Amino acid sequence: MRPVVVTGKPIRFASGADSVTPEQLADLYRSVGWRFEVAEGGGEDRSGGADLARLGRLIAGSTLVVTAWDGETLVGFGRCLTDGAFIGYVNNVAVRPQYWRRGIGRRLVEKLMGAYPGVLFMVSATGDVVSFFERLGFKGYQTSWMAHDPQGD
Ligand SMILES: CC(C)(COP(=O)(O)OP(=O)(O)OC[C@H]1O[C@@H](n2cnc3c(N)ncnc32)[C@H](O)[C@@H]1OP(=O)(O)O)[C@@H](O)C(=O)NCCC(=O)NCCS
Repeated sequence: MRPVVVTGKPIRFASGADSVTPEQLADLYRSVGWRFEVAEGGGEDRSGGADLARLGRLIAGSTLVVTAWDGETLVGFGRCLTDGAFIGYVNNVAVRPQYWRRGIGRRLVEKLMGAYPGVLFMVSATGDVVSFFERLGFKGYQTSWMAHDPQGD
């Protein structure tokens, strides 16, 4: 596969929970407009944002984490949750906007899915992102329902 070059050196891909810190991930996520705030009182924000501790659990609790680096800068991230046999969920794929449309997002998702041959992967997407996943071979089905723990705060 041809290397992706944006600013000089080829983009380096890595994997594993220890390849990225919550701070680096928060910085990348902010670059695409995702909110990661500390909740009032310093606790967890359960309203859709996330604090650094929660991002740490996102990283540590994923089955596989993949990252893309331009030098020391995190420019892409993706993660999946899967049983490794039947079902998987690709989630939170993000590429720093200056690096869009260079094939980095595709490679991140291909690395996630390529690690689990035969697994059926799902993703939740809206807007422009639908086209991105369609280009990667995903098809939309109106058969998914979602909820948080109904007993939760
Ligand atoms: C979605 C996102 C990850 C795509 O990353 P990217 O590195 O620009 O994607 P790629 O360059 O690998 O694109 C792969 C394919 O999707 C297409 N594509 C990418 N973004 C697209 C868009 N917004 N609309 C239509 N097609 C798009 C590309 O043209 C490419 O097609 P091709 O390989 O057939 O030429 C990036 O735009 C992003 O981080 N968006 C904000 C965060 C987000 O919403 N993430 C998704 C939540 S899971």
